[in-house]
Amino acid sequence: MEHSMKDCHCRITNKALEVVLDLGMQPLGNGFISSKDKKDEYFYHLEVGFEAESKMLQLLRQPAPQLMFHENYAFFSSTSSFMQEHFKNFAGSVLRTPLLTADDPLVVELGCNDGILLKHFATRNIRHLGIEPSQNVALVANKNGVNTIEKFFDEDVSHDIVSQYGHADVFLAANVMCHIGSIVEVAKGIENLLKLEGVLIFEDPYLGDVIEKCSYDQIYDEHVFIFSALSVQNLFNSVGMEIINLERQSTHGGSMRYTLGKIGVHTPSPVVKKIIQDEKKLGLDKIETYFDFAKNVAASREQLVSKLKNYKREGKVVSAYGATSKSTTIYNYCDIGPDLISYVTDSTPIKQNTLTPGTHIPVVNPEKFYQDPPDVAFLSAWNHAYEILKKEAPFSDKGGIWLTHVPNVIEL
Ligand code: TYD
Repeated sequence: MEHSMKDCHCRITNKALEVVLDLGMQPLGNGFISSKDKKDEYFYHLEVGFEAESKMLQLLRQPAPQLMFHENYAFFSSTSSFMQEHFKNFAGSVLRTPLLTADDPLVVELGCNDGILLKHFATRNIRHLGIEPSQNVALVANKNGVNTIEKFFDEDVSHDIVSQYGHADVFLAANVMCHIGSIVEVAKGIENLLKLEGVLIFEDPYLGDVIEKCSYDQIYDEHVFIFSALSVQNLFNSVGMEIINLERQSTHGGSMRYTLGKIGVHTPSPVVKKIIQDEKKLGLDKIETYFDFAKNVAASREQLVSKLKNYKREGKVVSAYGATSKSTTIYNYCDIGPDLISYVTDSTPIKQNTLTPGTHIPVVNPEKFYQDPPDVAFLSAWNHAYEILKKEAPFSDKGGIWLTHVPNVIEL
């Protein structure tokens, strides 16, 4: 694997970033490997910085995007039935607005993955275009009838799209914008691609939730930014756009859906002012908040490791439920390997029979969880807690223990 690393060229001001949190050496969050590739594993230093003027919390540097998003990208959106439902509702909320009443409207989605969101427009014969850099998921999207090009989006690509398809009415992105180091380029491209009245609607894990739940596992190579309304407003103001609506979402452990338009074209909802005030009350505009967060993260590590060591002393078998990218941050920051968590179960076929990145816990088919249940299951896919606990009620009924680390290290 090519060892490539670069500083994020993602500042919206030219001010320096101050390091607020050091999560140590980390492999790629989604870098599940076979045992033969163990020796060549890629690691980078995961440090988080805060930029006081733009209020952006972000990685100091990120691995080259080609290392993260490629023909073997291990994340398929459609594996979760909850996410299927979420994207159906997301599409429904767009379809119900007057945004698509123009003659032959165009909907563009950045990072359309396997087409989980755009398919709802495709099946209604609405003109659409997905832009997806990972070849394997882009192929699935095209197979699902979602017109998709395999590309990294930037301002140049936006000009190409305008010449081929015209300007867009709606530009969508879900769990994508926070992945892109060259975000200012992307923001310029979106502004260029949208019609005057066009809107950008995107959602990403929300900083307010990360701070309140101490969910530091949201921080890994793919999440270059942890956005707040404050930082999104500053970022998009710099390209002539503003937030016109905000809606909190329960997905991915707590997300925010941001709707933006060109400055002065739409009337912002009063909720925008209210949420920005709430963010200031929570201290998201102050660096001290992030130093406190770092202390909470260190305390969370101590509690989790001590709990796992206690289980080990008691002879309990511990597995983890869900080979998430998020848990890569936890396992490597806390130095949790197969001695503390024997195996991880995951329903995604291409993750099975691999090892977790960095600390090499075997990832296996969920059958093992049913045939030989562990004493304790660490809820690494805690963002799907509702779906999982409901589905796996027999495990708890037979005395199985669920362990989570959000918002505190506790047995559920
Ligand atoms: P995801 O929510 O995408 O988290 P991340 O973005 O941190 O990778 O990952 C959830 C993982 O959990 C995914 O690999 C599928 C797996 N999973 C199961 O194995 N069983 C389940 O019931 C659910 C909901 C998820």
